[in-house]
Amino acid sequence: MKEFFLRRYQKMKLDFDVEQSEVKPALRINTLKIKPAELIRRLHKEKIKVTRIPFLKYGYWYEAPFSLGSTPEYLQGYYYLQEAASQVSAEYLDPQKNETVLDMAAAPGSKTTYLAQLMENTGTIIALDIADWRLNALRNNCERMGVTNVLLYNKDARYAEDLNIEFDKVLLDAPCSGNFCIEEDWFNKRTLEDIQQNSRKQKELLRTAFSVLKKGGRLVYSTCSLEPEEDEEVVNWGRAELEGFIVKKEERFWPQDKQTQGFYISVIEKK
Ligand SMILES: C[S@@+](CC[C@H](N)C(=O)[O-])C[C@H]1O[C@@H](n2cnc3c(N)ncnc32)[C@H](O)[C@@H]1O
Repeated sequence: MKEFFLRRYQKMKLDFDVEQSEVKPALRINTLKIKPAELIRRLHKEKIKVTRIPFLKYGYWYEAPFSLGSTPEYLQGYYYLQEAASQVSAEYLDPQKNETVLDMAAAPGSKTTYLAQLMENTGTIIALDIADWRLNALRNNCERMGVTNVLLYNKDARYAEDLNIEFDKVLLDAPCSGNFCIEEDWFNKRTLEDIQQNSRKQKELLRTAFSVLKKGGRLVYSTCSLEPEEDEEVVNWGRAELEGFIVKKEERFWPQDKQTQGFYISVIEKK
């Protein structure tokens, strides 16, 4: 299967090079709890090197002599360990203060907690997921990061219409088959059938995402998959099937370009 996937990537990106695909560890400073300059000063004191990621608002690459997942600063929620491309999809949603936002596949909450940060804990974020243990992680992350504007529900997001709410913004960070940078032996674990099955579910989720979005509202569809069936094909399906579905921006993150994981983001507006 590896050859099959690599050939596909080379067709989409002529200079694709799996050997050059390095993911740099990144964190996001949580301005709900601390000012960036103050956290950077504290991290430098502990010999942790941080470098501003030029295409993000609060994102930094880091190099640390020990794990950053259990420092006092981490436990107090001063930062979230969040890969760079994942931060971009929350930024592209551009949530404003006091808006009503739906995060359809939210756990463990990397993006939910970032949306809350961007909204300065105002308005309401409804966060859905179907995995109990992942929802627990989401609850803990909200608590650690000082997030207070999130309502969590264990609910299949395909039925989000039951909520009877029209949202200003919707984030669909869809369940997907992942990518070779973040999962060992990915090439040998995935089949085209899995990918097509995910694609069908993603379209169902996208249909609901669009239907609960208010007119003039914004929807971000993202995946950590590089497979076209889960990315462009899903969005093209939306364009063909859903009235008023306008694609404003579409971006693929190839690991070799910006040292992110493989990622896809589309920004959609409802006319
Ligand atoms: C890519 S992960 C989400 C990551 C999350 N947005 C973040 O940034 O931390 C996809 C999530 O979708 C959830 N999921 C799968 N099917 C779902 C469905 N039908 N409705 C809601 N959530 C679903 C999975 O449990 C998983 O937590």
